Parts: sequence; structure tokens; C-alpha cells
Amino acid sequence: MGMFNNRKRWRVPAGVEPTELDRKVMAFESRGALVPKRSLIRTPEEIEGIRKSGVINTAILDLVGEKIHAGMSTLEIDEIVYNYTIEHGATPATLGYEGYPKSVCTSINEVVCHGIPSAKEILREGDIINVDCTTILDGFYADASRMFVIGKTSPQKQKLVDVAKECLEIGMEAAKPFGFVGDIGNAIQQHAHKFGFSVVRDLCGHGVGIKFHDDPEVLHYGRKGTGMLLVPGMVFTIEPMINMGTWKVFIDSADGWTVITEDELPSAQWEHTFLMTETGLEILTH
Ligand code: MF3
Ligand code: CO
Ligand code: CO
Repeated sequence: MGMFNNRKRWRVPAGVEPTELDRKVMAFESRGALVPKRSLIRTPEEIEGIRKSGVINTAILDLVGEKIHAGMSTLEIDEIVYNYTIEHGATPATLGYEGYPKSVCTSINEVVCHGIPSAKEILREGDIINVDCTTILDGFYADASRMFVIGKTSPQKQKLVDVAKECLEIGMEAAKPFGFVGDIGNAIQQHAHKFGFSVVRDLCGHGVGIKFHDDPEVLHYGRKGTGMLLVPGMVFTIEPMINMGTWKVFIDSADGWTVITEDELPSAQWEHTFLMTETGLEILTH
């Protein structure tokens, strides 16, 4: 029935007087734009809740940054995350999520994302590691990740880490109210390619806040003006995964989670949870 489905996504409840914002989004929708469901617009109370969750999430990653060192296991990182989260009245979102067994993802070198902490995995001088943590506080989700460099790494790996961070910042700047999600991906892709790096295509950013993974789908590549309309009040992540070699990845069949680059060259990722405001993105995880 898709062909005849004219149902609008942006629906103003019966009896509610459409606001100026409603009219603006409906005009985009009637011109054929992919608009968010109206329910993706977070209320001020929800934004406050996500913001508070973000404060704990940021403190967790700060603490990991203080404690991380060569010779420690990734399981020790998981323990730091679990303990701090619980002690602050929050819950680690990944623990038990679709069967994921730990409180954080730890992804070293050629691991792109979703690496599972393990007592057998020891950090070594020169490693680059992504620590990705999602926190639930009072039902509100905040999702962020950072790279940590263990001691000193090679100039090439350091460049990858730095460019991946710039990709997140450039993606953030490209996101404007009543622009499109594709503007973000396009900016990220252009920056990564300048340095000969590639952008992972199989995983993307996502709406977040009252669920772990929600609309919109935030691709880190693509064309300007494509994808979903960006409307003030939307909360979502940007989390570019930037590879030194090929963008292609595979999932380790040994655990069904760990995502690895096909050529086993290094990968780097940074992530924040953002609120779209009247003027641009505000970071909720710092
Ligand atoms: N935090 C990841 C993200 O940025 C999701 C991890 S899900 C897990 O979306 F199950 F792999 F932990
Ligand atoms: Co995320
Ligand atoms: Co994350």
C-alpha cells in the first residue's frame, strides 16, 4: 500500500492549534521532504532529563581518561564504568542490550566499534582505543564516545584520531535547523577524504534520549539536502567511524559483536549526543 500511503509524518494532535513551527515543517513535508515524526521533538522536561544523563556520561568518560594506562585490561575499564554509573543512580545502557554483555564498548586499533571488554585484552603503548558509553538516568539516554591514545602512537594513527575528532566537529557545524541530515554526512565525508581516510558506511548515528536508538538515521557520508529534515527539539548522535584504509568492515563471528576493518588497518571514532536548537547543535555530553 506504500504507493497510496499519503499519511503525513508530522501530525498535529486534534484540538491543538498548529504553531509556527508546525506550519513550517508541514510546508516542508508537502514539498516532499522527509520530516521527522512530531513525537521526535523533545519537551523541555525531556531535554533536562537527557542533559542530566549527559552530565553523568561525561563524568564517566572523564574518569576513564584519568585511569586509562598501558598494562590495564579493557575489563578494568568496564568495571570503572559500571561502578561509577551505579554509584550515581544510573544504569549502563549496553548491559544486556540485545544480549550485549558489558557496560561499555572498548574498540582498539582495527576494531571499529562494539568491542567487548575482556580480562585477556591488555592495553599496550601505541594503541588507540575508543571507549563508547551510554548512560540511562531516570529513563533518559546519553551516548558518547572518545578516543584515548595509550602513551605515544605513530604519527599516522595520531592523525587518524585527530581527523576523526575534526569530522565530528565539522559534522556538528554543518547541522543547521531546517537543514538536512545529509548535510552532516557530506561535510564529514569531505573532511575524511582530504586526508585519504574513509568513512564507515554500515553503522550510523541515531536519534537518542528516550530510547537508545531512534530516528533519525545519521549517515556519516552522502549528499547535502538528503535525509531527514533537522527540526529544533530533535536529539541525536553524530559518531563518525573513520578508517585509515578501506571503509569496509566485518563482524567477528567469534562473538557476533566486534566490528573490524576488512583490511585490519586502524579506525577511530568520536561521538556526542546533540540537541538541535533554533541556531544549531548544542552538545549534551560535555
Ligand atoms: N553506544 C553505541 C552507539 O553509539 C551502541 C552500542 S550497542 C552495544 O550507538 F550493544 F554494542 F553495546
Ligand atoms: Co550512538
Ligand atoms: Co555510543
